[in-house]
Amino acid sequence: MKISQLTSLCWWVIPAVMVGVLGLVAAQESPTPVALPVPITQTDPVPAQLTVEPTMLRVDLEAGAETTIEVRLHIAEPTTFVSADAGCLCVRPELPLPTALAAGWSTLRVRIAGVLPGIKTLTIRTAAGSATATIQVVTPGFGDGAAVAAETVRIAQAAGWKIVVVVHDLLGSAKNCGCSTGSLGGIDHLAALADVFPGARLVLTGAVEAGENQDSHLGAALAKHGWEIHPPDVVITDQPLTALALPGILAVIDTGHTAIANQRLVRPLLGHGALAHLLLVTPAGMIAEQRILPIDQTLPAIAAILREVVPTNRIVIDRAAHPAESCASCHIAAHTAWASSAHARAFATLAPKDQVDACVTCHSSPQAGTAVRAADVGCTACHGGAAAHAAAPATPTTGVTNCRSCHDAQHHPAFDREAAWLRISHGR
Ligand code: HEC
Ligand code: HEC
Ligand code: HEC
Ligand code: HEC
Repeated sequence: MKISQLTSLCWWVIPAVMVGVLGLVAAQESPTPVALPVPITQTDPVPAQLTVEPTMLRVDLEAGAETTIEVRLHIAEPTTFVSADAGCLCVRPELPLPTALAAGWSTLRVRIAGVLPGIKTLTIRTAAGSATATIQVVTPGFGDGAAVAAETVRIAQAAGWKIVVVVHDLLGSAKNCGCSTGSLGGIDHLAALADVFPGARLVLTGAVEAGENQDSHLGAALAKHGWEIHPPDVVITDQPLTALALPGILAVIDTGHTAIANQRLVRPLLGHGALAHLLLVTPAGMIAEQRILPIDQTLPAIAAILREVVPTNRIVIDRAAHPAESCASCHIAAHTAWASSAHARAFATLAPKDQVDACVTCHSSPQAGTAVRAADVGCTACHGGAAAHAAAPATPTTGVTNCRSCHDAQHHPAFDREAAWLRISHGR
């Protein structure tokens, strides 16, 4: 079975595994409880319409335990609920999120996992504004990543075995920074593993789907430290028996609850903070042993990688370009409708610090014949082949971009294509 055949499966496996596994080991904050900073942070530019209570709370948990807290929201007028997220999946609102928020008070339940302690900011966004609550998670947490790593290397060296590191479901988690908010604490922690396990191989599950390969920033940073990413070696499936029978598969991650014993079966300990699996592989290619590696602050972060990886902004934005103008002369009505839409100011929406690769992709438009993009979501962001058409109108455009490529589940969970089209509708 190839990774590509697993795409549909991964649609639900990845969120499930991410929520279960990565989320629990997400933050890299100090293990000792620290004094809370100034609590209330209202992020609205206009006077807040939305209020959250409490704005600050402390949750004490045993390592690995979970609890649910309630956050109360108040809004004067009914509004649309957009998102609630703490950057760290160890603080995660109960799904499904409401789509609408009634006037007055409502309650949002939030699951807290006691894995790594730290201060998390829960941001709640609605169409009427956003507000935050600060949650301090106090727990003994896991802090033995380095110890597990050292012990594993010792065993492998003594027995002449190789180590294969399986990192689960990086989809959206391997940020190009050493920031502690990402589920893996950033790319530098991942790359740091290469120095902890010299000569080992790395298998990323899930990240492959996100297009992370040797050409990506992640791939390049890892390759520099001798990692090779081997995506097809590990299969994620709820049909482990079938997958185990396949030739050439190193390990199978069982997403179901099948009670079978097999050395090739990897069981991510959902809910227990497992993050990476270390497979000890014999020269004959058999898995002799498995160990679970918590990627945490005990593992070193490499400053050199950080320096290389942080300035990865490759997308250049031409702020002076106004590609929509080239259409305006012939499509006055369409241009007028567009000019009053949110798409026409999508770039200005980004704060200067957010004008980085990770954000600008959806807030800008391609320009034919150049890698430099134009600010805002202009005509060419949606109408393929529009430049050739503008030059010679008899040449038809090549189709319309799927709205969901930008209005995706993460950036616009409540997106409704039909209602949204009414707001930007235009014709010739
Ligand atoms: C290239 C990315 C991209 C594509 C493709 C795209 N949008 Fe958007 N859209 C955005 C961004 C970014 C914003 C936010 C603009 C802002 O507020 O700064 C936005 C905002 C909007 C808004 C205003 C916000 C709201 O919810 O009222 C509507 C409506 C909208 N888009 C509709 C659509 C529809 C319909 C399609 C498909 C035909 C579409 N968009 C395709 C990027 C895109
Ligand atoms: C995959 C596409 C995509 C990416 C990447 C993206 N955005 Fe957006 N962004 C959107 C869409 C779509 C909307 C409109 C959402 C809506 O109307 O609810 C939007 C709206 C916004 C808005 C205005 C609405 C609001 O939520 O207040 C801001 C600000 C914003 N994005 C900032 C960012 C930042 C910062 C980043 C990078 C961390 C980013 N975006 C990355 C698609 C994207
Ligand atoms: C957010 C995506 C988006 C943006 C931005 C956008 N359009 Fe469109 N446009 C569409 C969609 C979707 C349709 C409807 C296509 C259909 O029904 O086949 C459409 C329809 C049209 C049509 C009519 C097509 C027909 O067959 O009748 C014209 C002309 C057009 N757009 C021109 C423009 C121009 C000019 C701009 C920039 C000023 C622009 N569009 C910006 C998505 C977009
Ligand atoms: C010189 C005039 C002219 C310019 C400039 C022009 N168009 Fe058109 N466009 C036309 C004409 C005429 C038609 C109708 C063609 C037809 O019906 O066969 C058309 C049709 C379209 C259509 C619907 C038919 C199709 O091919 O999908 C879209 C979408 C469109 N234009 C988008 C754009 C965009 C986007 C731009 C700017 C990048 C642009 N046009 C620039 C003249 C122009």
